[in-house]
Amino acid sequence: MKAIVVTDRAAGTAGMTLVERPEPDVARLAGLEGANYGDVVVEVHASGFTGDELEWPSTWIDRLGRDRTPSIPGHEVAGVVTALSYGTTGLSVGQRVFGLTDWTRDGTLAEYVVVEARNLAPLPGDVDFTVGASVVMTGLTAWQGLFEHGHIRAGQSVLVHGAAGAVGSMATQLAREAGVYVIGTGRAAHRQTALDYGAQEFVDLANDTMEDVGEVDLVFDVFGGDIGRRSAGLVRAGGTLVTVAGPPEARPAGGLAIDFVVVSDRAQLSEIARRVRDGRLRTHIGQVATLDDAVDAFNPTERITGKTIIRVRR
Ligand SMILES: NC(=O)c1ccc[n+]([C@@H]2O[C@H](COP(=O)([O-])OP(=O)(O)OC[C@H]3O[C@@H](n4cnc5c(N)ncnc54)[C@H](OP(=O)(O)O)[C@@H]3O)[C@@H](O)[C@H]2O)c1
Repeated sequence: MKAIVVTDRAAGTAGMTLVERPEPDVARLAGLEGANYGDVVVEVHASGFTGDELEWPSTWIDRLGRDRTPSIPGHEVAGVVTALSYGTTGLSVGQRVFGLTDWTRDGTLAEYVVVEARNLAPLPGDVDFTVGASVVMTGLTAWQGLFEHGHIRAGQSVLVHGAAGAVGSMATQLAREAGVYVIGTGRAAHRQTALDYGAQEFVDLANDTMEDVGEVDLVFDVFGGDIGRRSAGLVRAGGTLVTVAGPPEARPAGGLAIDFVVVSDRAQLSEIARRVRDGRLRTHIGQVATLDDAVDAFNPTERITGKTIIRVRR
């Protein structure tokens, strides 16, 4: 099969190479003796890659700390199940699925990927594979930050940093739809985009004073650093600062600070798919490229806004 691999951590996306790799060994996978309990093979139709994935240790080593290069990056997938191993539940051969694959295993920039079934959810027939792959990472991150870690409820307020960005725009839409008052932040040029996604107020971080928004029940931080530190002071007693930018440097005086790394979740993926179908959740796809053109797509000569999705099969 065709796959994109990386071998050199220092090279970044410029070190991506398109190669031939063996397809997953379905016969071995289906046998009981393999270590593939719960795995399925997915024929990849669309794949997504996260910008800073090549900086994460999990791209280079497995769970036992062993070098796993050449590794296949990309962990967002939408495709079709072609084989099941022993112990899989809830999926069948031929089923359309989408999900987030394990950070420490070969990923989805390939024609096939082996994934634990529990990391996948059914993808409804009327949701395009490209759209499905584009909402996995951003949708799950937003969902988990708001509801699982942030415990936000209708009538409360959230300050969403980077509200026009990939994660922030999802968080803004999901929060607003849940009856939460949403204040978005970002650059001056993002104001209208953030409002279009559903933010009721917008803070231009370069020119407005963030502290003027007063207290909020939840801060959803994607920046860390100085913005993250100052944000802790905005959290109301009993509220939460949730961040995806690493360990928080400050904690709210009367509240919690939680940092997390997104994980796949079948039930949450299904909630996300439902909202995409209903038109309640919009995704921002910047460009769609083939696997043959993927290396160029991840090394653009000009700035592209929105998610890059690799359409592996037409
Ligand atoms: N822990 C996890 O599980 C997890 C999961 C997903 C993402 N993340 C992390 O979350 C971060 C955000 O991801 P993303 O995909 O949403 O990124 P993104 O699409 O680039 O969104 C960030 C947004 O914030 C804006 N921005 C950046 N720096 C700014 C500044 N100094 N002042 C004002 N606005 C600024 C960006 O504007 P411009 O485009 O103009 O720069 C963009 O609109 C990344 O670091 C990513 O690695 C973590």
